Amino acid sequence: MSSPYSAASVTAASQGSNPYGGITSKYPGPRAQISRDQSLVWWRRILPVITAHRISFFVAIALSFVSLVFQTMIPKMLNSSIDEALVHHTASLHSNVLKVIAIGLLAGITGIVSRRYVFSTAYNVEADLRSLIYEHLTWLSFSFYDRVQSGQLISRANSDIRSVQMYSTFAPLIVVQCSIGIVAFGFMLSINAPLAFIAMIVMPLLYFVGIRMREVMFPISWITQARLADVATIVDENINGVRVIKSFAQEEAEINRLADAAEKVAWAYIKDAKIRGQWSPWVQNLPQLGLAMVLLFGGWMVLDGHIGIGAILAFNAYLLMLQAPFMMLGQLVMMGQRAKASAERIFEILDENPEIIERNGAFDLTNNQGAVEFNHVRFGYGDGPDILTDFTATINPGETVALVGVTGSGKSTLARLLTRFYDVRDGSVTLDGHDVRDLTLFSLRKNVGVVLDEPFLFSVSIAENIAYGLPNAGRDEIIAAAKAANADEFIVKMADGYDTVVGERGYTLSGGQRQRIAIARTLLVNPPVLVLDDATSAIDVHVEAEIYSALNRLLANRTTLVIAHRISTIALATRVILLDQGRVVATGTHNELLASTPLYSQVLAQTTSEAQ
Ligand SMILES: Nc1ncnc2c1ncn2[C@@H]1O[C@H](COP(=O)(O)OP(=O)(O)O)[C@@H](O)[C@H]1O
Ligand SMILES: [Mg+2]
Repeated sequence: MSSPYSAASVTAASQGSNPYGGITSKYPGPRAQISRDQSLVWWRRILPVITAHRISFFVAIALSFVSLVFQTMIPKMLNSSIDEALVHHTASLHSNVLKVIAIGLLAGITGIVSRRYVFSTAYNVEADLRSLIYEHLTWLSFSFYDRVQSGQLISRANSDIRSVQMYSTFAPLIVVQCSIGIVAFGFMLSINAPLAFIAMIVMPLLYFVGIRMREVMFPISWITQARLADVATIVDENINGVRVIKSFAQEEAEINRLADAAEKVAWAYIKDAKIRGQWSPWVQNLPQLGLAMVLLFGGWMVLDGHIGIGAILAFNAYLLMLQAPFMMLGQLVMMGQRAKASAERIFEILDENPEIIERNGAFDLTNNQGAVEFNHVRFGYGDGPDILTDFTATINPGETVALVGVTGSGKSTLARLLTRFYDVRDGSVTLDGHDVRDLTLFSLRKNVGVVLDEPFLFSVSIAENIAYGLPNAGRDEIIAAAKAANADEFIVKMADGYDTVVGERGYTLSGGQRQRIAIARTLLVNPPVLVLDDATSAIDVHVEAEIYSALNRLLANRTTLVIAHRISTIALATRVILLDQGRVVATGTHNELLASTPLYSQVLAQTTSEAQ
């Protein structure tokens, strides 16, 4: 898989490496990237995605043109067969019928094949746009997700992709269909010029009615979309937040909120139907006006002997054929406006560059000893104030250090800096003496394991959750990891044991069970450096005592940073670092700090009471 976002390819052409280096995946990726040149108009930026499918696109357009040419031949043939075979008896009816059938068949077959190519192009373009966006979202850094409402962004991306796809593949097709109007007009001219002009009079009218109808429909369809999105948001919140809703007994309020939103959608749809109802009679009957005129003027010409009866039938067929494309031509303008807005929203995502990228010449961390150092680290999120002002600490290989500080003092932030989810503002974080910014992200994150306090589990089996970082792990390895995390005991009691599928985000498990699975998941990867960020906070004190020995084993051969507030967990560490006001205020053993630093006892008292 290649990504354009590693440092090497941001400066030079794509080097075919991704920020994580080393991943080889079966996923081929999208066939093209959008143009990175932000000064281009929107469709020029999208163009590479379309031209990646130029062959099937060209076949689709060419065949649809051929099919339309065949179709336009039929009314003309109808004209001559009626006049020659029925009126003047100069040609045989059968051979004419056979000719019409043959051309009709050709039109049908080319039509079927062209449609197949149109749809496969359209959906391949859509798939490419989708993988472009999702791939990009995957590469983006934490800071992006801190800033945006990712859920809304993603759901919006879906409809935006569709509207860009529709416009970029179907618009050329509609143009081709309308251009066939010229061919048809040529045929009509060859039958009778004045009548051809009379017949075509309604076409521009159809076009303008199409535009006008879209104009009045557009605001309401926009409102409908927005209101549907509101309903989707409420439903989403109601499902994801169902535990909060129920615990505050707010079901009725939520139902009312939903009913309110549903009513607004209904209003928009009814309004939409009303407008449609007012306009469709005009749209449907304009062609009849054309037919009436052809009948009137054509009729006079027939009576005067200028044209045959067949001509009226042929003109009739042409009018019917051209009616739909000309109406759609009017809609094209609106579709274009919508596609432009959609494309711009897509660019908003795609133009976002990941902040954390590998340096040129970043190297893999090998044979990691686990020496961690924070050197005068200054850091704050986004444009916010400094959270860490001057944090300096060394953790020796194999050492277990507890990090203690009040809530919000920046403990989790330190863990995020060690894994380089964010970059420091000043100073550095090093691993075995290497600045984390010099290492490949893939090797860094393989070497530093983090267990979070609110672990996220996927809706797959427990075994797959444990093997998440090491998908090829055997069942015995998974079980060993689970045993070490003291999770095996409750897993085997579950209905399907290790194959039990956990509910969404693991909600079918207790917090403590989830934490133990998360510990097993990290254990399996066996990282030389481990961060436990409040990883045992949801585990009962007596269960914690049980996994105490397991934790001790877990910490034995690696460098560990334990973020904790329970004295029992802190006791696992050989040394405690007390963090306050963005810097280290004291360091020593638990007993030393208790004796020497009043703040330490205060912090412990505060965090312990908070946890209960
Ligand atoms: N993603 C974020 N964006 C902005 N501010 C954040 C973010 N995460 C944490 N903070 C802020 O940084 C400070 C330290 O947070 P954190 O490291 O989570 O504290 P701790 O883990 O010690 O409780 C807090 O003031 C918090 O509000
Ligand atoms: Mg925290």
